[in-house]
Amino acid sequence: TLEVVARPHELRERVSQWRRKGERIAFVPTMGNLHAGHGSLVSRASELADHIIVSIFVNPLQFGPNEDFAAYPRTPDEDRQLLESLNVEVLFAPEVHDIYPRGQETTARVHVPGLEDILCGAFRPGHFMGVATVVTKLLNLVQPDVALFGEKDFQQLMIIRRATIDLCMPIEIVGVPTAREKDGLAMSSRNRYLLPEQRAVAPQIFAALERARVALEAGSTDYAALEHAGTESLQKAGFRPDYFSIRDANTLQMPNGESNDLVIVTAARIGRARLIDNVRAKRK
Ligand code: PAJ
Repeated sequence: TLEVVARPHELRERVSQWRRKGERIAFVPTMGNLHAGHGSLVSRASELADHIIVSIFVNPLQFGPNEDFAAYPRTPDEDRQLLESLNVEVLFAPEVHDIYPRGQETTARVHVPGLEDILCGAFRPGHFMGVATVVTKLLNLVQPDVALFGEKDFQQLMIIRRATIDLCMPIEIVGVPTAREKDGLAMSSRNRYLLPEQRAVAPQIFAALERARVALEAGSTDYAALEHAGTESLQKAGFRPDYFSIRDANTLQMPNGESNDLVIVTAARIGRARLIDNVRAKRK
């Protein structure tokens, strides 16, 4: 059965018992409102470790002043049921003051320059600093052998990989492929903001990414034209796109002649929702 741990010192006790026995620990950080995408991270975790810790913490530091922190869906009962059904042993659900102690004097803020201010970072100032900071704190608390993150948040995954390497954290970061609805829409807690008519057009995001992937894999190098076509098709479907961009999947910079591993990334707004998605493209 699932044990819910709120206090950091209780979590550390649990983990150190396992570690003394030489057992491997996997960690899946989340903000709750769990869905099958989170479920696929947990399934992968069970293949990589003896014990799984999932955290649920809606991190105030990664939300901008005009973003949806207060409105972010919180569904603790359903989340607990899902984790029970996935055989997760420990749910770590700290309070804000456990992660950000009051009267804190150490201004620990993790920045990853170059990666944090492009793409989503350009539209959400401070967001990735908030993500990198909370993930660093959570990894320090849990001290897992391996931590899993979704490729759906491709820029976030790259930033976390970079930060853990640069901060010498001996933790393996594993990316997990995006879980999608049958019609292609990437699963997300924010999909519940969609009204029925918005939900009906939402699969157009994946469709536009796939069209760009097919063109790239067929040899097109006219990135500007493909980005323009993607942006336009999203606008026609009723979105307000923030960006639709083709990047080198290893650097997130614009591709150069040597880039064979590409990623098409997009963020688009519709109604109250801001949806992100990406698709990889391999070039010979
Ligand atoms: P959250 O949006 O709850 O996502 C938690 C993890 O689930 C992230 O690693 C995310 O990439 C992954 N995920 C979400 N939807 C997915 C999907 N459709 N397929 C595969 N993986 C998916 O991302 C966050 O929370 C926060 O920023 C966090 C990393 C917890 C830091 O606060």
